[in-house]
Amino acid sequence: MKLENYKDKYIISILVLIISALHYFTLEGYWPIHDFYRRLYYLPIILAAFKYRFKGGFLTSLIVALFYTPHLIFYFGEINIQVINQFLELGMFLVIGMITGYLVEKDYRKRKLLEFQIIQLANLENYTHNILDSLHSGVIALDKEYHIPSTNRKALTFFKNPTEILQFFEKVNLLKEIDKIFNGTQDTIEMESIHYKNDQTKINLKIMAYPINNITGKKEGVLILLDDITDIKELRYQIKRSERLAAIGQLASGVAHEVRNPLGIIKTISQTIVHDVKDSDIKEGIDIIIHEVDRANKVIKELLDFAKPYKYQVKKLDLANFLRELLVLTKKYGEQKGVAVNVIGVEEAIVEGDQDKLRQAFINIVLNGIQAMETGGVLNIMLKTIDHQWAVITFEDTGLGIPEEILDKIYDPFFTTKDYGTGLGLSITHRIIEEHEGKMEIESTVGEGTIVKISLPLPKKEEKND
Ligand SMILES: Nc1ncnc2c1ncn2[C@@H]1O[C@H](COP(=O)(O)OP(=O)(O)O)[C@@H](O)[C@H]1O
Ligand SMILES: [Mg+2]
Repeated sequence: MKLENYKDKYIISILVLIISALHYFTLEGYWPIHDFYRRLYYLPIILAAFKYRFKGGFLTSLIVALFYTPHLIFYFGEINIQVINQFLELGMFLVIGMITGYLVEKDYRKRKLLEFQIIQLANLENYTHNILDSLHSGVIALDKEYHIPSTNRKALTFFKNPTEILQFFEKVNLLKEIDKIFNGTQDTIEMESIHYKNDQTKINLKIMAYPINNITGKKEGVLILLDDITDIKELRYQIKRSERLAAIGQLASGVAHEVRNPLGIIKTISQTIVHDVKDSDIKEGIDIIIHEVDRANKVIKELLDFAKPYKYQVKKLDLANFLRELLVLTKKYGEQKGVAVNVIGVEEAIVEGDQDKLRQAFINIVLNGIQAMETGGVLNIMLKTIDHQWAVITFEDTGLGIPEEILDKIYDPFFTTKDYGTGLGLSITHRIIEEHEGKMEIESTVGEGTIVKISLPLPKKEEKND
């Protein structure tokens, strides 16, 4: 590489040296030959100008002049027209060297500038591309002919290719909305929609569309932003559910308090007079009153339990064992109803929690499952761990399922579809799971069954050691 760099310099220097030597070693009388040699000097000068631009042309012509001048003085010794001619030619060397050098230099600078601009442009494009690709939103540009000139990386995690994008836009009626941007009746479009990704996972997409204007302000297309808001939506839903539960709980406990006192009075008086009553019919009636008051009290106690702050007794809990114990407790009840309760596919998992409360929560779920299978069926309980982060317990029944329209009411206290239900089971369960910083999800298909999924956090590794 280095040698290559110097090669041209060597050639130029050697040329200058050879031509000068020719001058010095040729007899002074051979004028035409000297003329010829002199013109040969243009060769290294022009070569240098091309190679090293202005600096090359100028320096080489100067060097040539330096080499040539002594020869002139040496040979002529006097001033005549021929000597003046020769000196003029020396001037020409300089002029040619500089002009050629200047022209090459100018061209070179122009080329460099262009190169620089191209690199800058490429960098800029790369930069914008990188920015777009690092966005957490999907970005899609759409032109007036409904072509998609560009998408960012995130957009392609939602859709396989532009065709799929357009199909989706068509399906959710977005193209019709976008027309409103094109004909100026609307500035932006905002909508939410459900989408199934390539791996069939269901996500909630927030879609926003804005016009893309060119420099003259004319609309050239639209920019579409896509955000996966599945988690946000779920969170919003859970917060709403918790708020509603808290509000209802508060109200209910207020009412329960008020009702408990009159009930207590009714019960005490009934118990007092039942001894003095002789008539067996009235006696039986009073017994029923006492029994019903007890039943009402039980509901109230449950309700107050639900609303009252409770001190959780947190201990390490072997979930697999815990589920086997739960099976012993509930199997008999299941058998009576023609339901086979199984614990299958159990992984080992230790969580931290309040045994009594978790048992109450799980029993509520199992009972609901069994009660949903009036003509018998199967209730499978499974336990697995996910990412060393969650212990997930699933209760899968083959019962009648939950209609979509009541799915978000089933957590409400007192919401029940059963004749003798209290409607408190799931609200209590939900609260217990929440207190354990867990998650509760229910999926259900009417006529097929229901899956209740409880996720409890696994203790972090370092906590395990101490
Ligand atoms: N596994 C299930 N299958 C079908 N429906 C269910 C299931 N679990 C809960 N439900 C529905 O949710 C409602 C509320 O349940 P819950 O809060 O436990 O109260 P309750 O059992 O007293 O009705 C039930 O009445 C029922 O309609
Ligand atoms: Mg219940």
